[in-house]
Amino acid sequence: MTTLTHYLQSQEIYPAVSSVITTVTDIGKDIAALLKKGALADILGEAGNQNVQGEEQKKLDVLANDMLLDALAQNTHCAGVASEELDHATPANNDGELLVLFDPLDGSSNIDINMAVGTIFSVLPYERQGEQIEDTDFLQHGHKQLAAGYLLYGTSTMLALTIDSDVVMFSLDPDSGDYVMVNERVQIAADTSEYAINSSNYRYWLAPMQQYIDELIAGETGVRGRDFNTRWVAAMVGDVHRILCRGGLFTYPFDTKYAHKAGKLRLMYEANPMSLLIERAGGGATDATQRILDITPTDIHQRVPVVLGSKNEVEYVKTLHLQHQ
Ligand code: AHG
Ligand code: MN
Ligand code: MN
Ligand code: MN
Repeated sequence: MTTLTHYLQSQEIYPAVSSVITTVTDIGKDIAALLKKGALADILGEAGNQNVQGEEQKKLDVLANDMLLDALAQNTHCAGVASEELDHATPANNDGELLVLFDPLDGSSNIDINMAVGTIFSVLPYERQGEQIEDTDFLQHGHKQLAAGYLLYGTSTMLALTIDSDVVMFSLDPDSGDYVMVNERVQIAADTSEYAINSSNYRYWLAPMQQYIDELIAGETGVRGRDFNTRWVAAMVGDVHRILCRGGLFTYPFDTKYAHKAGKLRLMYEANPMSLLIERAGGGATDATQRILDITPTDIHQRVPVVLGSKNEVEYVKTLHLQHQ
């Protein structure tokens, strides 16, 4: 039985990366324990203020953020942190070699209904070691990530992690407190008949995305010649996990619903880490036409349309969008 500790020691992993992954995943155990208590831990409901995203913060958004922030501030390898729940990047240790970005609690609308939520994390190199970090230090391409992963707090707590070429999956053993490896090389099937999208936004999508979804709904009577099934967890971590387990397509497309018009998901701590996982598992990840990991960031909270999952399906969506250009 290989634990996360064994795995980190066994690989030729940069000790600093290993250390911050251990810090984040240890806090993941504490978040999982709080979620197990649920209402009894007084962690449900609103925190009473809005975050920089314009969202009503949940108590657990704030609590998870503070737990990760406090723990990483103690880790000498961490130079600074960027979080969905913090307006700006927060300095940690100026001599640290790494920057850590996270969505502390993904799927907040699921917290109060006891549905799956997660934590998404990303590790970038810090190029100005010795100086205090600034937001701009985080604006690096997704392909520069040194590590990325998520914790899924579901019926069991699972960790998906990529450091070098592979995606490795672990399950938290509640008895030992160890993350035990359950898949040493996750691979996604190139084709799928399962897709995930919030269809209530149909009227806000661009024409090619409307066409794509119309084709899926037409099933075997339409141009795709087969029936499709749909799932929507309302937590990106849950939808991405399903795709890593059995393939599929997930999209939160460009829409005209939000003032920022790019779609809902954030590049730096949702789209980039998830895209690294999906690509390394053999899938595709685009903003509908270009590779997400090649997008040049301009703001730590910028949003981006996301189409990711089974490679051939992501390519098909890209073809439809290019035909409309
Ligand atoms: P977060 O809870 O971290 O703000 O992220 C929620 C995101 C993502 O996890 C999920 O796929 C999407 O929002 C769900 O959006 P809808 O509520 O519009 O379905
Ligand atoms: Mn999120
Ligand atoms: Mn969140
Ligand atoms: Mn949020």
